[in-house]
Amino acid sequence: MNKKKIVFLTGAGISAESGISTFRDSDGLWENHNVEDVASIDGWYRNSGLVIDFYNERRRQLKGCLPNNAHRLVAALESDYDVTVVTQNVDDLHERGGSTKVIHLHGELTKACNESKTQVVDIGYSDIEQGSRASDGSRLRPFIVWFGEAVPLLEEAIKEVEKCDIMVVVGTSLAVYPAAGLVHYAPQNATIYLIDPKIPGGTPSKVVAIEKKATVGMEILHKLLKNEQ
Ligand code: OAD
Repeated sequence: MNKKKIVFLTGAGISAESGISTFRDSDGLWENHNVEDVASIDGWYRNSGLVIDFYNERRRQLKGCLPNNAHRLVAALESDYDVTVVTQNVDDLHERGGSTKVIHLHGELTKACNESKTQVVDIGYSDIEQGSRASDGSRLRPFIVWFGEAVPLLEEAIKEVEKCDIMVVVGTSLAVYPAAGLVHYAPQNATIYLIDPKIPGGTPSKVVAIEKKATVGMEILHKLLKNEQ
């Protein structure tokens, strides 16, 4: 029997219980950092040193973090479903939690690349040294999709969403496009779940809202899906 297809769209909230800061919550990263300075292509051209420092710090933090039960529960669904994770997160906690099909829309902290993004190298949790060069002579940079840059994996993500039976959105403010627009590609008859401790008013009634943090919300989702089978 063909497995039903679930697409997860995840954001910083799924990693919050692992100790990783979200962006737009009151204690979030964009409270203490200017997003234009550290996460935009113009910021990179203005002051690449600051950008490298910012992502080195993120990578060092990530090294000390572990996947939480929400990441593991996403992965566990692979035994009964065809699961694709589309994540805006640059951490590797979905992979470490056991997920095998993960599309990183906004890049990956454990990789670096040349300035044209044609050469990507694994760097694990090590720092990018200031002044490092890629093999083509350009500046070595974090493999991140910054504001002002294209989102190369968008098409692949859309294709996955278009085929889903179930879509689950976890821990994202849906403030950043084009990622936030992905939900609109879900087929009409797909069931859409939204897991977040703060569900915005005006959420369409066809969306099944689970107003909980990710670990609790994912346990509820497992029960709901079991009852559906
Ligand atoms: P945000 O910080 O915008 O949103 C985080 C969401 O997680 C909010 O809706 C919170 O309510 C929710 N949240 C907080 N704690 C949670 C928990 N324990 N469990 C579940 N949800 C929780 O982060 P993103 O939506 O991921 O891009 O941000 C999208 C993009 O904006 C990021 O990929 C990043 C950022 O700028 C770039 O840097 C290019």
